[in-house]
Amino acid sequence: MTAGAPTPDVVLVPVLDGHIWRVEAWLKADHVLRWWNDKDAAKSLLREPARRERQRLICADGEPVGFVQWEPVDLPEWKAWGLDVPDGSLHLDVMIGVEATCGRGVGSAALALLVEELKAHPLIATTSLSNFPCRRAFQKCGFVETEHFYKPGAGRMVLLMHAA
Ligand SMILES: CC(C)(COP(=O)(O)OP(=O)(O)OC[C@H]1O[C@@H](n2cnc3c(N)ncnc32)[C@H](O)[C@@H]1OP(=O)(O)O)[C@@H](O)C(=O)NCCC(=O)NCCS
Repeated sequence: MTAGAPTPDVVLVPVLDGHIWRVEAWLKADHVLRWWNDKDAAKSLLREPARRERQRLICADGEPVGFVQWEPVDLPEWKAWGLDVPDGSLHLDVMIGVEATCGRGVGSAALALLVEELKAHPLIATTSLSNFPCRRAFQKCGFVETEHFYKPGAGRMVLLMHAA
């Protein structure tokens, strides 16, 4: 975290049509592409209005800086990866699109808000073993790393489950 800089006030707001260009630009940013490189799939998620209710924009001190989304887990697909997750699990994704905002506590704060909103469900997340900020941000919000696995195209990953 930037020394001396206070953590901004973080809120989650609905994603509106007018936000999409911004989220698409974030998805092309190098610091996001490094970890979230399925940009065509991510863009199509943004273009499907039915998914909007499972997406939020992250605002920090009133400015849009990032994006969260969640999806019901497709259990057979996860079983094919050798992962056993609870029925009804929701898989969470997060990104801070404004690079200068990374490392200021905003990702962790946004996830904490999302966990509060979704806490009635089993919550899971996955990230690259090498993505230490992401692993730590989820851990700070009550997630526990339960296993490592290999995902074709993505490499060595870690599964995190929220310890409700
Ligand atoms: C991952 C991401 C959401 C985290 O959000 P953030 O606002 O940058 O992170 P935070 O400031 O909340 O801090 C996360 C924690 O990681 C720690 N951290 C940061 N860099 C680290 C590193 N290289 N090694 C270990 N821990 C690290 C921070 O110190 C902090 O922990 P602490 O509060 O105990 O000190 C954000 O960096 C991001 O969107 N990155 C690019 C896209 C991405 O990786 N998305 C996730 C794909 S699964």
